[in-house]
Amino acid sequence: MVRDREDVVGIDASILMHPDVWVASGHVDSFTDPLAECKECHRRHRSDLLETDACPDCGGELSDPRHFNLMFRTHIGPVEGDDNIVYLRPETAQAMFVDFDNVVNSSRVRIPFGIAQQGKSFRNEITPGNFTFRTREFEQMEMEYFCEPGTDEEWHRYWIDFSSDWFTGLGLRRSKLRVREHQADELPHYSKGSADIEFLFPWGWGELETISNRTDYDLKAHIEKSGKDLSYYDQPNNKRYVPYVVEPAMGADRSALAFLVDAYDEEEVNDDKRVVLRFHPSIAPYQVAILPLSRNPKLTPKAREVHDLVRSRFSTQYDETQSIGRRYRRQDEIGTPLCVTVDFETVESDDAVTIRHRDTMDQVRVPISGLRQALQDQLDG
Ligand code: GAP
Repeated sequence: MVRDREDVVGIDASILMHPDVWVASGHVDSFTDPLAECKECHRRHRSDLLETDACPDCGGELSDPRHFNLMFRTHIGPVEGDDNIVYLRPETAQAMFVDFDNVVNSSRVRIPFGIAQQGKSFRNEITPGNFTFRTREFEQMEMEYFCEPGTDEEWHRYWIDFSSDWFTGLGLRRSKLRVREHQADELPHYSKGSADIEFLFPWGWGELETISNRTDYDLKAHIEKSGKDLSYYDQPNNKRYVPYVVEPAMGADRSALAFLVDAYDEEEVNDDKRVVLRFHPSIAPYQVAILPLSRNPKLTPKAREVHDLVRSRFSTQYDETQSIGRRYRRQDEIGTPLCVTVDFETVESDDAVTIRHRDTMDQVRVPISGLRQALQDQLDG
């Protein structure tokens, strides 16, 4: 969103912001989950996530749910008091609203445009779980797209499609993705309309991203609380308005988990189980592994030379321990798309190496002089 587009500006704001930001945004009053306590085992559960009204741990009767705020609180300075409370941000989004004017005045952007950031958010979740699906500290990637009122529905549709394509473009199977519109009773407090992009995890469908039409809710709330004018002057049309906002809000950890789950594969090869992470090359932790055929003083210098040649262009690993077969499997398991093998022919006769492809296990011989280009071509597919 930031690097490939001219209409989105990236920022990196602080985690601790003025507490009034969270009063204005509605989070202090409304960012709550319903919590029910079991009358028998006294465990607490988020009642909106339960399938029945009995305790999932012991089957006991649950109390009526009460709402509790999800924000973590702490204090500025050494003395704790009501006048120095601060919150760990529960979303990265609010910084994009309070910095709206700053960005407009410094970045030469014109509506429609977006402000995006990636960073940590914190929520005091009652029921973290499903590995890293729901955690109390997590990474979000959010963008607020400011547009003229009346164009918001169109942009909402646009960003839903854009986000779905982003996931499939990085390899998630479309059959494992779906877009689910929110029912009126599950809309967040700021939203006129929200759609979730969901992935079919092993335990069922789970949300990866919410794309919301936040209208002018947030900017107006900050105008009211701060007294600062956050309206926008549309010079060509000589009019002033408070922009509407469409927000794609994605969990980075959750998306990473979906990519992992979707990429994981096991297959039979020569009566042996091969575990492969079939990552798209863009998200594989390593794109290329350099593997001398064996640890041998004749091969190591050449293999190191090859490694130096490719490491500035690709993310790489060098490995010369254990048998070559074991090392191929190791790279398959971490999803490295290509392995480059340096063997005795390389040093004795042809100055060429073998590229082995993770998915097909096919091998091709290429001269070292054309190696960088050959790797790029294979990664581009
Ligand atoms: N600014 C809007 C917003 O924060 P959200 O639907 O509450 O919307 C956006 O969060 C995304 O952040 C979710 O779709 C999810 O991927 C991720 N997320 C939210 N809570 C999370 C948690 N406790 N653990 C991991 N990821 C979480």
